[in-house]
Amino acid sequence: MARAPIITLVSQKGGAGKSTVTMQLAAGLARRGRRVEVVDLDAQESATRWAAAASPEHPFPARVHCFTAAPYELPDKLAKWRKRADVILLDCPPSIDHPRTLAALNHTDLAVVPVVPSPTDLWSTRAIERLILQLQQQRPALQGVLLPNRVGHTSLAADVIEVMQDFDLPVLAARLGQRNAYAQSAAIGGSVFDLGSAAQPAQLEVLRLVSAIAKRLGAME
Ligand SMILES: Nc1ncnc2c1ncn2[C@@H]1O[C@H](COP(=O)(O)OP(=O)(O)O)[C@@H](O)[C@H]1O
Ligand SMILES: [Mg+2]
Repeated sequence: MARAPIITLVSQKGGAGKSTVTMQLAAGLARRGRRVEVVDLDAQESATRWAAAASPEHPFPARVHCFTAAPYELPDKLAKWRKRADVILLDCPPSIDHPRTLAALNHTDLAVVPVVPSPTDLWSTRAIERLILQLQQQRPALQGVLLPNRVGHTSLAADVIEVMQDFDLPVLAARLGQRNAYAQSAAIGGSVFDLGSAAQPAQLEVLRLVSAIAKRLGAME
């Protein structure tokens, strides 16, 4: 296969679901036989702690590296991790001005922006969209997509998702609902695939997410 694509989870706010999506996506890709390397760029180390919560008998299905060093050191590390990976996931700090977020975006093939369908999240998404569009001017190969996350059954959520269609970045053909399974899997250092049939709706969402992302990246299919 060609060089491992880099998928970056980025948003302006904390709590949008970057780490949750990173880890579920990593597990979903691993289920499809991909060798996944996750890089945790956030000093809060959510992804690192998530993987560390796993038991030795049942480790998290992807390797998780914590990278909180200076951004200029990132390219060398990525080159190293890329050698043994089919795909690399970067989990960003909760700010688009952070130097590690900017370094990550410079190496990204596909930026995924989780958006909780609320008006305030929508407003902050405008800023990240502007940044991605700006970077695309210099590097047209960079793709960016919006991913509705924590979607409930309210009419407000439906309205916000409709407004998202008017953004310049496309909305991914997948979404994650507001479900306990996403948080529960963090506690066991795994994913929704470790929670049995009770988590089937979440599992289907993650599989759909994997397919939609693979389609975007073309080469991974
Ligand atoms: N789809 C979801 N359903 C339910 N809870 C979610 C979902 N996505 C994220 N969460 C919860 O929201 C909180 C913030 O998510 P997290 O992934 O840490 O966001 P970020 O990395 O963007 O700061 C966590 O407690 C997480 O369990
Ligand atoms: Mg996080």
